[in-house]
Amino acid sequence: MSKPRPVVIYGASGYTGRLVAEYLREYNIPFVAAGRNKAKLQEVMNTVPGIETADYEIAEVDGSVEALTSLFEGRKVVCNTVGPFLRYGPQVLEAALRAGCHYIDTAGEQAHHLSVVDDWGPKFAAAGLVVSTAVSMQYALTDIAARIVLETPGIDTLELGEYVANVPTIGSTQSMFDVIRKDAYYLEDNVLKKYNGILQQEITVPVSGQVVTALNWGGTALPVFFKDDRRVRNCRMFVAMKNEKGDIPQRVREAERMFKVMFQWLPEDKLYPVLDQVAASMTSSTPPRENRQVHRSVDWCTGRGNNVTARAVIHSTSGYQITGLVQAYAAMRLVGNTYNGVGFLSPAHLVGHRELMAALEAYGLARVTEEFAS
Ligand SMILES: NC(=O)c1ccc[n+]([C@@H]2O[C@H](COP(=O)([O-])OP(=O)(O)OC[C@H]3O[C@@H](n4cnc5c(N)ncnc54)[C@H](OP(=O)(O)O)[C@@H]3O)[C@@H](O)[C@H]2O)c1
Repeated sequence: MSKPRPVVIYGASGYTGRLVAEYLREYNIPFVAAGRNKAKLQEVMNTVPGIETADYEIAEVDGSVEALTSLFEGRKVVCNTVGPFLRYGPQVLEAALRAGCHYIDTAGEQAHHLSVVDDWGPKFAAAGLVVSTAVSMQYALTDIAARIVLETPGIDTLELGEYVANVPTIGSTQSMFDVIRKDAYYLEDNVLKKYNGILQQEITVPVSGQVVTALNWGGTALPVFFKDDRRVRNCRMFVAMKNEKGDIPQRVREAERMFKVMFQWLPEDKLYPVLDQVAASMTSSTPPRENRQVHRSVDWCTGRGNNVTARAVIHSTSGYQITGLVQAYAAMRLVGNTYNGVGFLSPAHLVGHRELMAALEAYGLARVTEEFAS
């Protein structure tokens, strides 16, 4: 009998899942394209460039822990791209753990990151497995930038930013609005502190000097990634997203106000359709493939210590393609048993920040510049 294909993409019919498939094929890794609708999975896989040379199978699965566990058994890595993760993540994590698989996802929701680190991390560690989250454009790029900055001894304070031009998908927009019902945190003096709701701030994009309106963006993953790293006392991140109308900060603030005034008392089964309606008013259908000449982003980290400053700036293009590559690269390293520990590991810690950066540079998707003053 042939060996089971080692990697499962759960959510392969989505915008991101198909890109994970594209890059797994580049790394020559056999995979299972899994999701809830076999016909859609096949239709989407047929559009993946070069798919005729990929070693893959399709698996339709309901989202129950039992069905997912039996699909994952005998595999090595689960790439989970089914969001919003606060709703659908726990079942997949539980199934991966039961089946003895490493787990990585593309979540951008801070409350999910906290649960991965604090609740799931120790369980995966006890089983000798890796669990990682935000193995995606947000927040692998800033994770790389932060770890480059931390190479300078004495840095203890990380200020991170992102200015992103992308084409938010249905899942991404739902996830963006799903987090407004959760508290957001930043790191100050080694303690996670709660933001008082959505915080808006003007930020200056490095090098270009452009000033843009940014939000604390649900807290982001970075304060969570570094909360137990004693090198880092303070950590905050702001995100500015470019869209045609330039109205994202306003939309997010309006949604938060609406939630606080009208919807926070609703039970989840009634709340989700309301939140999804808000999301659908911004993105109602799957966007076209990104254009590398258009969908450019800048991610950066400025680090401070008493007598040192360091900064790493990553210029990149096509955030969803980056996510496909970062997922496939991490899966490749997990399949090949060349990763840096067990339990919770941030994406750049999991595979090494310089190596992850090199993988992105090798595909022409990103480039880093570094500055020091000490
Ligand atoms: N942090 C980052 O940088 C980053 C980057 C990319 C993606 N993401 C996140 O990844 C997630 C997916 O994004 P996307 O762009 O792929 O969105 P998408 O195109 O809307 O795809 C969503 C996927 O999830 C599946 N799905 C949705 N609800 C489901 C359910 N109840 N049960 C089973 N499957 C379900 C969909 O299946 P059907 O096709 O059958 O509907 C589809 O495969 C989002 O949460 C997004 O925020 C984050």
